[in-house]
Amino acid sequence: MKQDNTRTAQLTLEGNVYTLPIVEGTMGEKAIDISTLLKETGYITLDTGYKNTGSCTSTITYLDGKQGILRYRGYDIEDLANNCSFVEVCYLLLHGELPDEEQLRSFKSLIERFALIHEDMIHFFDHFPSHASPMSILSVMVNSLCNYYPEMSNDPMEDFDITSTRIISKIRTIAAFSYKKSMGHPLVYPRNDLSYCGNFLNMMFDKSVRPYVVLPEVVAALNKLLILHGDHEQNCSTSTVRLVGSAGVNLYASIAAGINALWGPLHGGANEAVLEMLETIYADDSNFQKYINKAKDRNDPFRLSGFGHRVYKTYDPRGKIIKKACDEIMNVLDVSDPLLDIAYSLEEIALKDEYFIERNLFPNVDFYSGIIYRALGIPTNMFTVMFALGRVPGWIAQWKEMREDPATRIGRPRQIFIGETAREFVPLHNR
Ligand code: SDX
Repeated sequence: MKQDNTRTAQLTLEGNVYTLPIVEGTMGEKAIDISTLLKETGYITLDTGYKNTGSCTSTITYLDGKQGILRYRGYDIEDLANNCSFVEVCYLLLHGELPDEEQLRSFKSLIERFALIHEDMIHFFDHFPSHASPMSILSVMVNSLCNYYPEMSNDPMEDFDITSTRIISKIRTIAAFSYKKSMGHPLVYPRNDLSYCGNFLNMMFDKSVRPYVVLPEVVAALNKLLILHGDHEQNCSTSTVRLVGSAGVNLYASIAAGINALWGPLHGGANEAVLEMLETIYADDSNFQKYINKAKDRNDPFRLSGFGHRVYKTYDPRGKIIKKACDEIMNVLDVSDPLLDIAYSLEEIALKDEYFIERNLFPNVDFYSGIIYRALGIPTNMFTVMFALGRVPGWIAQWKEMREDPATRIGRPRQIFIGETAREFVPLHNR
């Protein structure tokens, strides 16, 4: 980060002129450093939803919302999605470099070593109601891992490699076990002869009465989806992981907090909401225009799920790759899905509509991802769990970066109070 003392911002307040440093990132992003503003001026800034506020500097992920660029550690998302395994990208996000053969081998062996969950934890599943949300189960189980596995030692970074690979490996097992339990099927344990994604699919769909065939094309599709969800700079759930982690709490609890934030339909829950929206439109004689009009009506709470983004004001680069992967997997599996046709039509109509054009509303990562999950046999209520599986290495990498940054302090935003001024107390008998 460049801090050029000759480039500053001048702020005039009540006749005083204050000089604030300008900082510039490696890709030319610029910010006014206001870390001394309150002390110097007695003023704070106000930015509801943090639309204009940077919470940190980071070396992990770069987004360009105008050009639709996404890079992990400098590598373009399309290169990673088309050439890497998800485990390779996990290593890249956590350690900053693509692994060599030896590094990848030892990283994989840690993930294999931690694939099982403590047998006592399996009894948890007996006590969730059958209709329990898989996202609530995921956050409970991940949060509970700290009770079964030694929390990080006094030096959290000392056990980081163990705890981080433990979470990446076990969250996959927990997700598959929660699905099996919800179906009333016997659990299928991890098999380390399978890849990360193959192991997940086998745990999800293998049955003694009909062994699951792990198709390379299906593994490749899931691998690509998980990579595309790997990290996305300071989004809602990642900011949650950083904020919770800044209080000094362990990595398991910080990740569980991120899972809960991701659950929201405005965030990771949108992929489930997209499928529900497409099914509603399909059931309504595919009356696309009715739902486009509802989305445009300010008095109607309906929004086009999977459309729009806080940062991307062009097509989400992940959405483009997923849309292409949709066609590929449908051809491979020789399946068609009327909901995919509806999605294509919705996109075509919306992208020509002034309302969406004016507001730079394009399909985001969630618009087509559910169609692929559905084609792989994953139930709709597990779509956001899939998002979490992909995002967990990004959350962990961001947590590590926050913890290792000497500038990190506990996150504690301020506010502007607009409530009652001081009032005399009124005892109960006088109220
Ligand atoms: C993810 O931040 C990340 O990086 C997130 C994510 C990641 O990888 O971590 O990319 C993952 O969360 C993707 C987004 C998934 N959410 C959805 O698809 C839900 C539908 N989208 C919207 O709710 C909305 O677009 C958000 C939440 C994504 C972004 O909201 P913003 O940035 O707060 O924008 P806004 O609500 O202020 O909207 C600006 C205008 C408004 O209209 P006006 O008041 O100007 O008239 O655009 C309209 C909104 O009404 N608008 C939409 C719309 N999204 C925004 N109108 C109809 N349909 C939509 N989807």
